[in-house]
Amino acid sequence: MIKKQCLDIVQQKCENCSDCVLGETRNNVVFSDGNPETAKIVLIGEAPGETEDMTGTPFVGRAGKLLNQFLQEAGISRSEDLYIINTVKCRPPENRVPTDVEKAMCEKYLTAQIDIMNPKAIIFCGATSLKSFCDDKKVQISKVRGKWFDVEVNGKKYRSMAIFHPSYLLRNHSMEDGSPRRLMQQDLSVIKSEILGDKTSNPFSNKDLAAV
Ligand code: URA
Repeated sequence: MIKKQCLDIVQQKCENCSDCVLGETRNNVVFSDGNPETAKIVLIGEAPGETEDMTGTPFVGRAGKLLNQFLQEAGISRSEDLYIINTVKCRPPENRVPTDVEKAMCEKYLTAQIDIMNPKAIIFCGATSLKSFCDDKKVQISKVRGKWFDVEVNGKKYRSMAIFHPSYLLRNHSMEDGSPRRLMQQDLSVIKSEILGDKTSNPFSNKDLAAV
């Protein structure tokens, strides 16, 4: 079976899920975005926000738009290179961080998505997704971002990297050397060249990014 068909089966189960309280308040399950047949990278965020809950698509609100700009600048195609998912598939009320119970109830969907995708690399976008796969629950994203490490999912090891969450970058506009936005550019450029190769690039000026 092709990846899309396997993922459709998981999605159907997820859309009928009422295993945690988030199922009571969601408008839509936010399962994934991207092309599972071409994506070499699985990017994992935290949880859907308001726009994602209304549309059923991850990373389409303000943070998603900023992420798109960084991806475009790095020459990473959101629709072809990435399969974008979240740690939990339903929006937590008031955009609070998902609880341990909510994350545990959603883990079967997350691990099934990774298993089926069998990506060349996993990118943890922000602390919530990183902590879901790290033994050290106090791990600081600012200390580990940009470095490759392995995570094991259902007995298989995946090359992984953590990057800043775009919501954090929305609060940090500086483009100085060493600033979070600069580090995001560096990290995406490493991901692009080491996982996807250097075939295309899509220049985007720092001035444009600082304006978002
Ligand atoms: N933040 C996330 O972590 N995921 C989304 O889908 C949107 C915002």
